[in-house]
Amino acid sequence: MLLLFETLFASALLFSFGCNAFLQKETSCDSRVFALKPDHILQSHVIVTSLVHDEFECQLSCLSNDTCESFNVLPNKPSHNRICELNNATRHDKPKDLKWKKGSSHYSPVQGSRVTSLSDSEMQANNGKCHPDYKGKKCLTPKLGRYSHLPAHSCKHIRDSGDSRGDGEYWIDPEKTGKPIKVFCDMTTKEGGWLLVFNVVVEDSKPLPTIAAQDSYRKIDTFRSNGLFLTNNSLNELRKFLAFTQMRFHCHKPGKRTFHVATIINSTGEAVIQFFTGQTAQMPTSCGSFIPLPDDNSTLAGECASWGKENGTFHVGKWSYQGYKELSEVLAVIENKAHWLILPPRWECDDWVWPSNLAPPAGSFWKIYVR
Ligand SMILES: *[C@@H]1O[C@H](CO)[C@@H](O)[C@H](O)[C@H]1NC(C)=O
Ligand SMILES: *[C@@H]1O[C@H](CO)[C@@H](O)[C@H](O)[C@H]1NC(C)=O
Ligand SMILES: *[C@@H]1O[C@H](CO)[C@@H](O)[C@H](O)[C@H]1NC(C)=O
Ligand SMILES: *[C@@H]1O[C@H](CO)[C@@H](O)[C@H](O)[C@H]1NC(C)=O
Ligand SMILES: *[C@@H]1O[C@H](CO)[C@@H](O)[C@H](O)[C@H]1NC(C)=O
Ligand SMILES: *[C@@H]1O[C@H](CO)[C@@H](O)[C@H](O)[C@H]1NC(C)=O
Repeated sequence: MLLLFETLFASALLFSFGCNAFLQKETSCDSRVFALKPDHILQSHVIVTSLVHDEFECQLSCLSNDTCESFNVLPNKPSHNRICELNNATRHDKPKDLKWKKGSSHYSPVQGSRVTSLSDSEMQANNGKCHPDYKGKKCLTPKLGRYSHLPAHSCKHIRDSGDSRGDGEYWIDPEKTGKPIKVFCDMTTKEGGWLLVFNVVVEDSKPLPTIAAQDSYRKIDTFRSNGLFLTNNSLNELRKFLAFTQMRFHCHKPGKRTFHVATIINSTGEAVIQFFTGQTAQMPTSCGSFIPLPDDNSTLAGECASWGKENGTFHVGKWSYQGYKELSEVLAVIENKAHWLILPPRWECDDWVWPSNLAPPAGSFWKIYVR
């Protein structure tokens, strides 16, 4: 009995420390995770409409607007864009306004993820179910990564603990020193647990992203800036704390191809990580270092033996390009055919752009994750 009381008290204390009940809209104290309702939209609560490339971009837009409670993503044929509608209500607030609409998607926060103060009874089992942010027999154990005072070690840690609630923002503390950061975790692609460390997105009617390599890994909490990337040294700093064993590379230009591969967990894949974290200057072998993901339809992934340039020779079957050592610059190259490179004014994803200063279309993106 005494033990139970103490646990309850400790949880409640922890909770009020992390989230002030008076700050109802304080998004820094919670992190929202959205659940998908396919073939539905929430009607009559739209506050902002914009064009986006994908669900991810619409989600970022919702996360950065304090009034946004949920969002709809609608197709926009024949254009490659999609329509992003931000709503000021959720489907839990307004179930009657949730309407069937084939091909559209509605996303509302997982119920309860914005609750900022909980009574003891809410924390405990309710009809055999815990509050969604809590788990355990008595529902007294908060889930990892939901609150800044209970960060996880990594996105993979959250996935492995069974505390994942889909793609979205989570708190992690890679150094385990009580200085957590809020990051983006992809929990659905290829078994999930992926931490976003590089995010370059070209947005409609906005200037091209400002490219400035960050020399502290902690800047991964600026993923919403659409111009996030890390230097080889800061990625190495992150690796010291997280010991990630895989990298995943994903780029796309609307109307063109998708390059989407993950490194293999063996010494060929490891050599790629070592190179891009600046642990070695040996250019890594391309063939046998990665596997393509199901949506990959790139030239690069199909012709690994033709990658690279080393000692003045092209088609050497290596990642990167002689003279370049940064992930952000030249990742992979098939001479004058298919490149992943970001060297403004050049922005290439599995293509070769000529004249080289042609701007990439809105919706183009380059993303890198680690796990
Ligand atoms: C939500 O947005 C609608 C417009 O779609 C507006 O009429 C309504 O007043 C807003 N409600 C709140 C609570 O802001
Ligand atoms: C956030 O939503 C409000 C409407 O509630 C809108 O006026 C404002 O432009 C939005 N901000 C952004 C950055 O989209
Ligand atoms: C490649 O896949 C993308 C979607 O990931 C699609 O939009 C594009 O049309 C495909 N391109 C080719 C050449 O198949
Ligand atoms: C990291 O990248 C920089 C260029 O920005 C390069 O000078 C340096 O040699 C690289 N580090 C290693 C260990 O390769
Ligand atoms: C790593 O795995 C890939 C795919 O199975 C294979 O092609 C490659 O040879 C492996 N590397 C080593 C060093 O075994
Ligand atoms: C380039 O030269 C280095 C050092 O001599 C050597 O290790 C590497 O195998 C050479 N690469 C190619 C593709 O010939």
